[in-house]
Amino acid sequence: MEWNTKVAAPDELAIQQAAELLQKGELVGLPTETVYGLAANAYADSAVAKIFRAKGRPQDNPLIVHIAKLGQLADVANDIPPAAYRLAQAFWPGPLTIILPKGEKIASSVSAGLDTVAVRMPSHPVAKKVLEACGLPLAAPSANLSGAPSPTEAAYVLADMKGKIPLILDGGSCTVGVESTVISLTGGQPVLLRPGLITPEQLEQTLNCKIALSTAILDKLEVGEKAQSPGMKYKHYAPKANVIIVEGGRDAYCSFVNTKKAEGVMALCFTEDEPLLDVPVVLYGRGEDAPAQARLLFTALRELDEAKAVTVYAHAPKKEGVALAVYNRLLRAAAFQVVKL
Ligand code: TXA
Ligand code: MG
Repeated sequence: MEWNTKVAAPDELAIQQAAELLQKGELVGLPTETVYGLAANAYADSAVAKIFRAKGRPQDNPLIVHIAKLGQLADVANDIPPAAYRLAQAFWPGPLTIILPKGEKIASSVSAGLDTVAVRMPSHPVAKKVLEACGLPLAAPSANLSGAPSPTEAAYVLADMKGKIPLILDGGSCTVGVESTVISLTGGQPVLLRPGLITPEQLEQTLNCKIALSTAILDKLEVGEKAQSPGMKYKHYAPKANVIIVEGGRDAYCSFVNTKKAEGVMALCFTEDEPLLDVPVVLYGRGEDAPAQARLLFTALRELDEAKAVTVYAHAPKKEGVALAVYNRLLRAAAFQVVKL
């Protein structure tokens, strides 16, 4: 079905319309504090199937279930450990996703057949209002075509979803800019599956224990290796340009990039690099400002496409704290190509 996709300001009428569409099993694009999500009723396999179709998402990559209030957690997950409530109390509503044993009512396609479910309670006022108005848990991956950068603006959702969904609620720019931190509580030791604005250190402090970092965060999976988080398997966030990460200080990075100057060569760099560079640039925050890098990364990747970049040399973020999330996404955009100076 081809929709005449409407982009609406999130007033009461539009929220009500979104809720009705969701109750009828249709998809809605909506803002969250991290990135825009593509939402469907998490209880209905037929609705969830539309997400996979609209995104071109591989069937074995499970989705995150969004809830409005803590009372809904027991509707979507089973055997909830005290650690989940501790994390929820510290970080919900907010950009943290917790993997738990799956509740029976959740459609099996949400979890791609796994017996676990990813749950988060978003803090964005529009996401909250829609969740409350429809009264359903909503399965929602990022609202991009599979493999493309996650959308941080309604216009990017429209670019990827035009004709495929009836409604996008425009809540402006997302403030976090990278997807939620994902932690699994289904094994013995908690495992960080995807880094985000909430850092491993913050999680350890709240849980009062060490958490393991999935090797998939900074390494490519070996052929045949089983992904703890299936999303880590896929080439992701990729702009059309060939992105290469360059690790090194400001002077070394800028000198290196200047030697590559040619038609179509661009730099994805920090604010303070710009004066030293002799190629066109897209900026993504100051070198010391990881939250700004997170907020700007996906927009920057889409801007590089708009500028018709062919080869992009990206100044590497740090591999700790919030910057670990930025490095993790950039590494996938770069298909793991890294130059160490
Ligand atoms: O910030 C976010 O989390 C955004 C907004 C819209 O909420 N959503 C998002 O969804 O990033 P998505 O589908 O793009 O990413 C979901 C990630 C994938 O890496 C997936 O593999 C993982 O969560 N995941 C989902 N269910 C899982 C499960 N049961 N076990 C392990 N990983 C799971
Ligand atoms: Mg995604």
